[in-house]
Amino acid sequence: MAKCVAQSWVIMQDVWDLIVLLVMTIAAHIRAVYRNFVPPPPKSLVGKVVLVTGSSGGIGRQICSQLAPKGAVLVCWDVDKRSNDNFVKDLVAKTGVKAFSYQVDVSDRSHVQTVLQKVRQDVGDINIVINNAGIMPCKPFLKNTPEELEKLFQINVLAHFWVLQEVLPRMIEVNEGHIVTTCSATGIIPTRNLAAYSGTKHAVHGFIESLKDELRYDSRKPNIKFTTVYPFACSTGLLSGIKSYSRFPFILNEVLQPEEVAEKLIDGLQRNYEHVYIPNFIRFAGTTAKCLLPEVQRLSADFMGCYVEPVSTEAKKIK
Ligand SMILES: NC(=O)c1ccc[n+]([C@@H]2O[C@H](COP(=O)([O-])OP(=O)(O)OC[C@H]3O[C@@H](n4cnc5c(N)ncnc54)[C@H](O)[C@@H]3O)[C@@H](O)[C@H]2O)c1
Repeated sequence: MAKCVAQSWVIMQDVWDLIVLLVMTIAAHIRAVYRNFVPPPPKSLVGKVVLVTGSSGGIGRQICSQLAPKGAVLVCWDVDKRSNDNFVKDLVAKTGVKAFSYQVDVSDRSHVQTVLQKVRQDVGDINIVINNAGIMPCKPFLKNTPEELEKLFQINVLAHFWVLQEVLPRMIEVNEGHIVTTCSATGIIPTRNLAAYSGTKHAVHGFIESLKDELRYDSRKPNIKFTTVYPFACSTGLLSGIKSYSRFPFILNEVLQPEEVAEKLIDGLQRNYEHVYIPNFIRFAGTTAKCLLPEVQRLSADFMGCYVEPVSTEAKKIK
């Protein structure tokens, strides 16, 4: 008898949990539709210390330039010392922003640790991290050298681990932080000629999603926000020597401009959006379309006719 009561109780509990799940699911969808029409107000970045990696490159440079008028304090990291120093000097002169230039190879764990200690002394705690530095050799997978593949993972993946292992504990302690990740459309969509790069971006996407889940179950319930950005091909130095094609440029431009990517990234940061797809069509191609049969996904990809390939003559380097 007691066993029967206990079993009924378990079943009632399951049914109740299912009802709660359904109600919450409907509420989340209603909230999402509402937020589509009435976006959350942007949060202030005044006085927030923002670390941007790859700050002197195409997208990173635009991120810093657009954050400057918002009153953020910029900690600019790049492996290219001269370019970064010149950029930060100009930015400070033009906008009066408080900005600091550091030469850092983000793939070098001890270098990241040492420079972060210096940043804490010079500037203070970091409130927002924008993990943006990256490299992108474009060629068929079998043409990648082992050295190239190791470097790809060191810069595009491991660097995220080194930075976050250093900054997250303090963010959790002070119960405030925001991690922004420049991922890529190739982090959710298969892309030929970028198989290895796409692997690094899938890794970063998976890492951030799982880290979010881990923190959700952390007993301290840390107030750490995450924004991951998935841009399509963008006209920066990264794309030099690479041609990007799109059959329907009115849906998916052949190339984005770094100004647009930076603007949407900062909008996502200020409104606490978890995912930012640039352009919006990437959301459909990278998420909804995954419900289709693999064969249909391939047929649809062929129909859309989007791909990148190396070109023999180096395209003009844009910075
Ligand atoms: N350009 C695109 O088509 C595109 C599309 C989607 C995503 N992304 C991503 O956006 C991010 C920025 O790319 P971008 O287009 O501005 O490239 P970019 O080459 O113009 O700039 C990258 C910057 O990172 C710096 N960097 C490279 N290795 C570094 C290291 N080890 N340590 C510190 N800094 C280093 C470079 O010096 C450079 O200033 C990358 O993560 C890239 O994967 C780019």
